[in-house]
Amino acid sequence: MKIPGFKSYYQEDDVQAVIDVIRRGMYWADGPEIERAESGIAEYLGIKNCVLLNSGTSALFTLLKAIDVTGKDVIVPSFTFIATANTVELAGGRVVFADSEQDTYGLSIEDVIAKIGPNTKAIININYAGSISRNALHIAKVARDHGILFLEDSAQSFGATADNKQVGSYSDGAIFSFCQNKIITALGEGGAIVTNSDEIAGRAKLFRSHGRADTPGKKHFETISDNDYLFPGHNFRMPSASAAFLSSQLSHIHDNLSRRRHVASIYNELLNEAGDYLVRPVPSEGFSHCYQMYTVRFGSGGLRDRVRKKLIESGVMARCYFEPLHQKKYYASKNQDLSLPVAEDLGRRVLTLPMYPEMREEDIRFVCGIIKDVVLG
Ligand SMILES: Cc1ncc(COP(=O)(O)O)c(C=O)c1O
Repeated sequence: MKIPGFKSYYQEDDVQAVIDVIRRGMYWADGPEIERAESGIAEYLGIKNCVLLNSGTSALFTLLKAIDVTGKDVIVPSFTFIATANTVELAGGRVVFADSEQDTYGLSIEDVIAKIGPNTKAIININYAGSISRNALHIAKVARDHGILFLEDSAQSFGATADNKQVGSYSDGAIFSFCQNKIITALGEGGAIVTNSDEIAGRAKLFRSHGRADTPGKKHFETISDNDYLFPGHNFRMPSASAAFLSSQLSHIHDNLSRRRHVASIYNELLNEAGDYLVRPVPSEGFSHCYQMYTVRFGSGGLRDRVRKKLIESGVMARCYFEPLHQKKYYASKNQDLSLPVAEDLGRRVLTLPMYPEMREEDIRFVCGIIKDVVLG
């Protein structure tokens, strides 16, 4: 593609941080970079605990294992990435899909309330594309009132705020992805759980490393005797070099976010001329947007498909994030009569345009020119 959907953004000291770990020739799996990145993220977000993992998917799975959803219902959006639902199934829970809201593409509070039942253990909301969903704080309250845990799939929204509150500060736990296309990355793949609960963080830490209770003050790779194992866990650890890269990326986050917001502001201005034909991702009062993605919503599915075809023919990456999960083969077979009108409508009308910190203005103009040609005729 002439203009890709994303480009990973890095600076020379990010690279140097990785080289330093390699040259050390030791502690590639359990270096001090892990705890340094965890405390850096926790401090940046103002949240008590951060647990690094090797992907956003392992973060979701670990969080669900830490709260134990075995045999329980977990309410999730259908308009999300497949991992949000898959990890519930893999952790032994039952996926209950709820509909979305039109503005910020999070869960519909009305449908969440309708779907809460005696077997509901948790709700997972999605914070889409770099924003916090409109109803997140309200759904957190509904969950609390019902004695249900409220979790956030914030894979895409590191750094977003609502009412000056950071993701994870008003929920029982949130996850981030540090995959190569996310706001900051851990050298390609990575993830984290953030939570104010010591109990959830403690279980997550055990689960990410075989359920092993390390001898206090001793690293596993340095002890001469084996440790005790408290329950079956995985190896979901993040390598030290990835954590070093991630910490360095975090130190540049203000520059990263201001570049993304600058790209979004040019898009917003140029696409304003497309008027009623599309809705731009402009955050509402009190919400910040980090623009991991720049997604617009067209007036109709037909128009979206025409624009997408033209963009792709012109060498511009344009993808549909997301197609509803309850219509995908595996989940469709389990939800044959399920109708989620907003999620289905969004799946037909949204289009994600190229977005990355170093995107050139002439490329943004090129993309917007194509869109305006199609919609304005
Ligand atoms: C909403 C959402 N949840 C979860 C994930 C999974 O994260 P990862 O790719 O790091 O496993 C992603 C990744 O794109 C995502 O967009």
